[in-house]
Amino acid sequence: MKIPFHKVDITGQEIKGVIRAVKSGWWTMGPKTIEFERRFRNYVGSKHAIAVNSCTAAMHLALDAIGLKEGDEVIVPAITFTATAEVVCYFKAKPILIDIRRDTLNIDVSKIESKITSKTKAIIPVHYGGQPVDLDMIKKIAKKHNLFVIEDAAHALPAWYKNKKIGTLSDMTCFSFYVTKTLATGEGGMITTNNKRWADKMKIMRLHGMNKDAWKRYSKTGVWFYDVMEAGFKYNTTDINAALGLAQLKRLETMWRKRKRIARRYSEAFKSIDGVACPTIDDYTETSWHLYVIKLNLDSLKIGRNLFIKELGKRGISSSVHFIPLYKHTFYKNLLRIRSSQFPESEYAYKRIISLPIYPSMGQEEVDRVIWEVKDVVEKNKK
Ligand SMILES: Cc1ncc(COP(=O)(O)O)c(C=O)c1O
Repeated sequence: MKIPFHKVDITGQEIKGVIRAVKSGWWTMGPKTIEFERRFRNYVGSKHAIAVNSCTAAMHLALDAIGLKEGDEVIVPAITFTATAEVVCYFKAKPILIDIRRDTLNIDVSKIESKITSKTKAIIPVHYGGQPVDLDMIKKIAKKHNLFVIEDAAHALPAWYKNKKIGTLSDMTCFSFYVTKTLATGEGGMITTNNKRWADKMKIMRLHGMNKDAWKRYSKTGVWFYDVMEAGFKYNTTDINAALGLAQLKRLETMWRKRKRIARRYSEAFKSIDGVACPTIDDYTETSWHLYVIKLNLDSLKIGRNLFIKELGKRGISSSVHFIPLYKHTFYKNLLRIRSSQFPESEYAYKRIISLPIYPSMGQEEVDRVIWEVKDVVEKNKK
């Protein structure tokens, strides 16, 4: 039995929704997208939700809405996907990397303030693996230094910070519906905000900078005339994607409970073995369990992280690493001229982390098989 790292959770609802969207003939952004936005904002409790074709697009539009400019600086964690920092570079602004906490793998909030300069415009915290960062602390720092907070919530749907759902707790929140995410539409994203001015701007910018409701121009009530207000982007989503999103949103918390059960079973099994450490979850958060990341105890093992992953692979278990620290990539190394030694906690974590399979349709047998194989690799490679 091979166990993949991820499997998309498809039911008849997704299939029916897509067939209906295809048959409607409205294949680009249209009424289904508008319905998805309405249901999404009702779900997270925000005033506005703007659907786009990726979380990367969402963050780009959010930074555009706050008026990020060349030479500005934006705080991001050192361990994240490149998209978090890449969008800052679109503006010829500079991403400033902050070391992470070795326990939760989230940005170390205590290290942010010393990196703030007169050029700093915003903080983009990432809820790593789905576990919310300490938003109160981040917002306090942002308020003191007059910075915007744009959450990279690519992993954090649904997730709760101090019993409040992620999606309304900062200036803007950006979600991803990429195929492996907790709500998947293949490719897709959403920005939520309570600020009407930003929402209006992002709606215009996601569709070539054309004035409001230009997407309606081929509908019965639409008009052919539109005005281009800015040089915008082509970031709109499609009604076919929105149909998938609507079906997945209905099942979001059911899928989340399944992932939570898998995580509990993993943690129960791993807490008694010396070779691996389970994820640390702060008691004021509820994670989406997008990722289940173990840390190897290298002191008790003869092999390192790479060989451990290889061993799992030989036994039919796919695993992954989230993420290669940004400062190790050629582009950021050249841009920022920083050294690994400046990020001791990221270095510590990166050597040890492995993301195990966790997806809603994973059966108990598959979970137990992963547990068994992880334990066996540990057992056979003990120092
Ligand atoms: C932390 C993080 N931010 C942003 C993204 C980008 O999401 P998208 O693929 O929807 O642009 C990802 C994607 O994996 C991610 O992991």
